[in-house]
Amino acid sequence: MSYVKSAALEERGFVILNRYDQSADPKEWLDLEYVDWKSSGDTRFAPLASAHGELEVDGFWNHTPPRTDKDGVWVDSQAALAPNLVRRAKEPGTNIGRCRVIELRPNTYADALYNLHQDDNNRLNPDETGWIVRGYYNLTDDPESVLILREDRYDPSSEVRLPLPAGMQVIIDTQRFWHATWHVGQEPRYSLITSWESGAALDAYIDAHGGSTEHTNPPLDQSVIDDAQREVQRRLAERAEALAEKRRAGGGEDR
Ligand SMILES: [Fe+2]
Repeated sequence: MSYVKSAALEERGFVILNRYDQSADPKEWLDLEYVDWKSSGDTRFAPLASAHGELEVDGFWNHTPPRTDKDGVWVDSQAALAPNLVRRAKEPGTNIGRCRVIELRPNTYADALYNLHQDDNNRLNPDETGWIVRGYYNLTDDPESVLILREDRYDPSSEVRLPLPAGMQVIIDTQRFWHATWHVGQEPRYSLITSWESGAALDAYIDAHGGSTEHTNPPLDQSVIDDAQREVQRRLAERAEALAEKRRAGGGEDR
């Protein structure tokens, strides 16, 4: 399979854009309607573009007919409430798939590691077309929180920790990375997540916004990492045991 991909993301799998002046915009995310959707922790989502313009956030491949994460349809009632968020999603001028605001409640580092997952953005994506990557634009000011990326789910040495102050903008190949957010605040964290098709338009947008892969992780004590790694293994073992017990009891397959 060969897809059109961005050179800017090739080396590290992410590219950081210039900081956006979030304080200049109203907090549109507080006006949106949210639906419960468990993804990487205690989350809710406010869809801006969905498979058919409905107020739901499921992957486009789970709809009829199934399709890849492109040609998202704006949810009119939501888009009307968030003109700045829609403008930012449209700014690259490339095909948009899912576009939504995610709300995440505070969690722990171990929670985030347990929740690490890879996205499925390119399921059913036709060969020779643009690879789907995703914009993560932090809306609330969470400088102590980090978006965690790992090439290898269980290997802390592969970890990238991207701090999340207001206006932080990063484009990520979230199918390549195991990822989740560690949010240490008191209030929920909000982020605009948009699926974009790679290609010349996205490349020009990345260039125009100072795209850079320069990044140094904020420090994290080795003992914190070790403790969280152990906690994740404990939870995984506990879950495996619970599933085994369910099978022994004839409870059938876990979904
Ligand atoms: Fe994800």
